[in-house]
Formats: sequence, structure tokens, C-alpha cells
Amino acid sequence: MESPAEASTASPSLPVDLRPLTAENVAALRCLNSTLFPVAYTEKFYTDAVAAPALFHRLAYVCDVLVGAVCCRREVPRTADGADDICGAKLYIMTLGVLAPYRECGVGSALLRHVIDVLLLSPWVEGTCEVFLHVQVGNDDALSFYQGHGFVVKQRLVDYYRKIQPADCFYVGLDVVTTGLRQFGEV
Ligand code: ACO
Repeated sequence: MESPAEASTASPSLPVDLRPLTAENVAALRCLNSTLFPVAYTEKFYTDAVAAPALFHRLAYVCDVLVGAVCCRREVPRTADGADDICGAKLYIMTLGVLAPYRECGVGSALLRHVIDVLLLSPWVEGTCEVFLHVQVGNDDALSFYQGHGFVVKQRLVDYYRKIQPADCFYVGLDVVTTGLRQFGEV
């Protein structure tokens, strides 16, 4: 098996295998996220993830080594009378990360492409829809990554984080024109 150090010197554009999240690999995702993010995600985060539609999560493997992952959820606002406002549905990228030795080789882009595909082919919204996320202020690599994929900073949220510094984050979004013609199983 290739070690991370060897992988970092390999030529870029690694062959990435994106796999669904399952009860079998969720423990590996928990380890990966604890390495990648300053925020500790709760057990409920992982329980909900396994129960969610499979396409909302992808684990990235290079030569059978877990090197990155993305976790999303659907956000549906409420109308004034409390009903789901389907037209306002968005896709929220909760986490997207790649282990440092495997960065700048296209793994993050492959995970992000999967997210955009989910939205483009979403059965739950037709028209313009947003995929969005929060980037901690100071995380310039992540900001540049998302901006390179057409995302724009829409807002700065002051004191968004309670336990980490800096506490502010940017709300970063991409408006996507969806067709709403297909079902998740067909993506
Ligand atoms: N050769 C040379 N450069 C390349 C190649 C290649 N084959 N492929 C991609 N690149 C470049 C891209 O152009 C990109 O440049 P840019 O950022 O200046 O636009 C850069 O490498 C990164 O692109 P990828 O390789 O596709 O992405 P990567 O695998 O490095 O992942 C990520 C990016 C996820 C932001 C990574 O830096 C990371 O995991 N950071 C730590 C965790 C993190 O902060 N995640 C985001 C927090 S916000 C959230 O989770 C919602």
C-alpha cells in the first residue's frame, strides 16, 4: 500500500474512487473528520449521515486508502404558514476535506463535482437552487478552492463558531440551475 509520504510526491491527478457512506465505513469517516476539522462532530451527525440519502455523502479512496470525504444535507426553509418551501430548498455542504498529503491532486474537486451533480439532477427542486457552505475566516485554501469552482462569498457571519477562533465565517454559495427531472437513484 502506498504511504501518504509517497503519495505526496506522486504526479497530480490521482485516480479517485468515490464510494457511498455505509455502516461499515462510518468509523473511518469519523477518524478522517477528526483529523481534518477543528470542530468535533457529534455521534448524531454520523447516525444521521448513515440514515440520509446515500448521494449526500461520498468517501474518496485512492488505491483503497480513505483520503477525503464530503457530507451534505438538504435544507428546506419554511413558508409563513409553516409548510416546506420546496422552491427554496438548498444543498448544504457540512464537511468537505482531503488529507493534506493528497491535496492539490483533484480529490477535492471530484468530491465537489459529485455535490453539484446531486443538485443538478435533484428531484426535489426545479429552477435555480443554491449549494452553500461555511468557511472559517482565515481558511484561505478552502476559500480559494471554492472560488475556483465558481462559488462566491455572500456574507460574513460574525461569531458563527462558539468554540474555535477566529469565530467568524464566510457564507459561500453557488447558484445552480437544476432540471428536477430525475430521481436520486438515477444519478
Ligand atoms: N495539478 C495541479 N494542481 C491541481 C490539480 C492537479 N492535477 N488538481 C487540482 N489542482 C489545484 C486546483 O486548481 C486547486 O487550486 P485552487 O485552490 O487555487 O483553486 C487546488 O489544487 C485544490 O484543488 P483540489 O486538488 O481539487 O482540492 P483538494 O483535494 O486539495 O481539496 C480542500 C481542497 C478540500 C479545500 C482541502 O484543502 C482541504 O481538505 N482542506 C482542509 C479541510 C477544509 O478546510 N475543508 C473546507 C472547509 S469548509 C467545509 O468543509 C464545508
